[in-house]
Amino acid sequence: MNQVSIKYKRPMRGELSPPPDKSISHRAVILSSLSEGKSIIRNSLQAEDPMKTLEAFRQMGIKITEHRTQPATSSVESNTEHRTQNTDIVLHGKGLKGLKEPKDTIDCGNSGTTMRLLCGVLAGQPFPTTLTGDLSLKSRPMQRIIIPLTEMGAVITSERGGYPPLTIKGGELKSINYRSPVASAQVKSAILLAGLYCDGVTTVSEPGKSRDHTERMLKAVGVDINIKGLEVSIKGRATLKPLDITIPGDFSSAAFFIVAGILIPDSQILIKNTGINPTRTGLLDILKIMGADIRLENKREVSGEPVADIHVRHSRLTGKEIGGDMVLKAIDEFPILCVAASKAQGVTKITGAKELRVKESDRIASMAEGLRKMGVAIEELSTKGGSEDGLIIEGMEKLKPATIQSHGDHRIAMAMLVAGLAAEGETTVVDTDCVNTSFPGFMEILENL
Ligand code: S3P
Repeated sequence: MNQVSIKYKRPMRGELSPPPDKSISHRAVILSSLSEGKSIIRNSLQAEDPMKTLEAFRQMGIKITEHRTQPATSSVESNTEHRTQNTDIVLHGKGLKGLKEPKDTIDCGNSGTTMRLLCGVLAGQPFPTTLTGDLSLKSRPMQRIIIPLTEMGAVITSERGGYPPLTIKGGELKSINYRSPVASAQVKSAILLAGLYCDGVTTVSEPGKSRDHTERMLKAVGVDINIKGLEVSIKGRATLKPLDITIPGDFSSAAFFIVAGILIPDSQILIKNTGINPTRTGLLDILKIMGADIRLENKREVSGEPVADIHVRHSRLTGKEIGGDMVLKAIDEFPILCVAASKAQGVTKITGAKELRVKESDRIASMAEGLRKMGVAIEELSTKGGSEDGLIIEGMEKLKPATIQSHGDHRIAMAMLVAGLAAEGETTVVDTDCVNTSFPGFMEILENL
């Protein structure tokens, strides 16, 4: 089990480009595979999670080649240079009905997005497929997609009462109008993907606006899609056009550097080419309310997604009450937000975070445990205890160094490493290999900065 020790050396200065967006990389592979003809996915994320989606489509007969392209450079601290390589993917889609039955079980690894979105596609296939994953994925609830996809006509079996492994056999699907009890892009996307295989219009609505990358990309491949507030409808049985898409940098990966730049005195960082889709940037809104100096520069649109360069400077934060839509828009940024709150002046209360209990780990419990070890006064709120799930965090001037468990969760590992940088002395985070699910090269960039 890998571990990393980290210690503050000097202020963080320079520029970086975060890795390509994970959510968009998954969707580009899925929709290109279902389109007819050759797609090009430029700057695709080469991390474990999206590679699971790619391998799944290879298993179902899609020809996919990966090409390394000219390195993008990001300069750090005067004239030092950190070089990263881009990967472009060329993929030959076979249309909605072109997938082959895989010979073996599909392993989704740690990736909830792979499993839930694949279920949407597999609901439309006439063959049975079994999907499994690692220990963390096997503990994540699948009932949220089993219920609507079953209503549409798929047959899904789970020997473990709604938890993976799942076997799914599709066939003739009928369109539905589904009201999801949970605001989840994975649920919404699974239903919309299954809707591609239905006659007529499939509608899904959700209690809050989750990330909308699927909707944007469905539009790009020529699907007739209608969005009214929290309700999305698509017309099935379209012929999907191939994609030529450039994936922007992942805001959720940039988030660790945004907070590091804010917390570490005298720091100043430019995070280039980062997706700023408004369904994802709740962390910016929250940090600004807390007093952070963040500026968006060079705003533009890339392949239907808003993108900008994010300039951050060290700032003093003040604790605030955070809940509702803001938390949904910062759903993957909860761990690093907790780190920011732990160094803010005063108390931060985060509520409405129940979904965080069923991510790659129980992120409310993981963060409470980690920050408590660093000396932070922190109270866990839980629905079971009669309040909304979340945390009350009392900020402090100096975090204590400690040894912290990541619980195999990439975002906990990276958040606690940033906390370690903001602490006095040396902090060790145990079980850090999981960082590769979304951000290979994280440590290298951190060291360079
Ligand atoms: C994702 C959606 C979110 C997010 C996850 C990626 C996606 O999950 O937490 O990391 O790519 O659709 P939910 O849709 O379950 O909230």
